[in-house]
Amino acid sequence: MSEEKTTVDMDAIVSLCKRRGFIFQSSEIYGGVGGSWDYGPFGVELKRNIKDVWWRDVVQCRDDMVGLDAGILMHPRVWEASGHVDGFTDPLVDCKNCKKRFRADHVEDGKCPECGGELTEPRMFNLMLKTFLGPVEDEASVTYLRPETAQGMFVNFANVLDVSRKKLPFGIAQIGKAFRNEITPRNFTFRTREFEQMEIEYFVKPGTDEEWHERWVEERFEWYVQYGIRREYLRLRQHEGEELAHYAKATFDIEYLFPFGWAELEGISNRTDFDLRQHTLFTGREMSYFDEETGNHIVPYIIEPSGGVDRAALAFLVDAYHEERVRKRKRVVLRFHPDLAPIKVAVFPLLRNRPELVALAKDVASGLRPHMMTVYDDTASIGRLYRRQDEIGTLYCVTVDVDTLEDNAVTIRDRDSMEQIRVPVPEVRDTLLQKLGRA
Ligand code: GLY
Repeated sequence: MSEEKTTVDMDAIVSLCKRRGFIFQSSEIYGGVGGSWDYGPFGVELKRNIKDVWWRDVVQCRDDMVGLDAGILMHPRVWEASGHVDGFTDPLVDCKNCKKRFRADHVEDGKCPECGGELTEPRMFNLMLKTFLGPVEDEASVTYLRPETAQGMFVNFANVLDVSRKKLPFGIAQIGKAFRNEITPRNFTFRTREFEQMEIEYFVKPGTDEEWHERWVEERFEWYVQYGIRREYLRLRQHEGEELAHYAKATFDIEYLFPFGWAELEGISNRTDFDLRQHTLFTGREMSYFDEETGNHIVPYIIEPSGGVDRAALAFLVDAYHEERVRKRKRVVLRFHPDLAPIKVAVFPLLRNRPELVALAKDVASGLRPHMMTVYDDTASIGRLYRRQDEIGTLYCVTVDVDTLEDNAVTIRDRDSMEQIRVPVPEVRDTLLQKLGRA
C-alpha cells in the first residue's frame, strides 16, 4: 500500500458508518472483537445491492455463466489438495517485550510497531480457521472454515457441467462468506477475518487462457467504473514474484485509492489447470471436458475474477462521500449510483403535528414500498430530515405539505441537484420508477 492520500478522511467514513447505521463493530457491548463487523440497516442494503448487481451482470445477463451456493464447511482433504494446508501462510513475528504479533511484511524497521521492542524471527502461520466437525475434538474431525469460495466451484465442476450442458468457455459464479485468521486485521472493513467474496471460476480451453484473462481483467475493471467509482481512483497492478499465489500463473489486482492508500478490491488470476488436476490426484475422479471438435478429453484452464463484497462496499462508500457548502452550511452527501443507494426514496410530512399530512405521507410511503426501498420519517424538522437522507445517499425525498391538501401534489427533491419538482400524488410512483430507469 502506498502513502498517497485521497481527500476523504477515513475517520469521517467510520464515524458516518456508525452514526447512520451502515457498519457497527462486532460484539461492541462486549468490547468488540477484532476482524469482524456488523452491517446495520443501511449497510445491509448497500451490500445486498452490490451483490444483486454483480449477480445480474455476471449470471443473469450472460448465457455462459451459472450460479452455485456451496457449503462453507468442506471435506478437510479439499484443503490439502488445494494447497492451503501447506501453503496458505503468512510470516509472523512476535514482540519479545509486549508479546503482540505482527505480519513480518507489515513491520518496517525490525522493531515492534507498538512498543519498539525486539522481535522474534519470522515463523509461518496458517491463515485458515480451524474447526471440528461432530462432537469429538480429535484430528480426524478437524476441518476449516473455507478461506475462499472457489473450491466449492472446483469440486462441483463435473456436477455443474453435467446439468448445465455448457460448452467451453463457461463459468460458475458464487457469493459467500470466507474466513482467514488475519494476524493484524485493520483499515476498518478492509482486512477482516470474516468476509464475503463474489467469485467467478471461468473454464476455458488451454491456450486461450491468456486472452480470456485479459478480457476478464478489462470487464471487471469497467464494472467498478459503471457503478460510479472514479476511474482515476482505480488502477491495475500485476503480482510479481513471491506475491503470486501458489496456484496462479498470473494475477492482476484491481486496486482502489482508499484514504489509507492503494489497496486490492478484486484479484483476477489465471489458475491454470492446477485445481482440477489436484482434485483428480486426491480423489481419482476425472475433472475433464470432452471436446467434440477434437475428440479429446481436456482439463480446462481457469480464469478467476475474485472480488471482496466488503471491500467493494467500502470503496463505493468512500467514493460516494462528498462534503459541500450549501447556504454556508456543510452538507455531507453519499452520491451512490442509483442501483446501489440503500434507500431510493424517503417520504416526510412537512409538519409532523398535522395529522392529515402525516396520514397522507404514510399512505404515499405505503404505496411506494412494494416497488422500491422506501422510508417514512417525521422525527425531525424538514431540514434535518433532508440532511439525514443525504448522509445515507437516499436518491429522492418526497414531502407532503400544506398545499398537498389543496392540489393533491407533493414535491420530489433530487439528492444530487437538490432541485424540487411538484408531482400529483397519483403520479409519484411512476415518476420515481421512470427516474430509476425501471418504468
Ligand atoms: N479465490 C481467490 C482468493 O480467495 O483470493
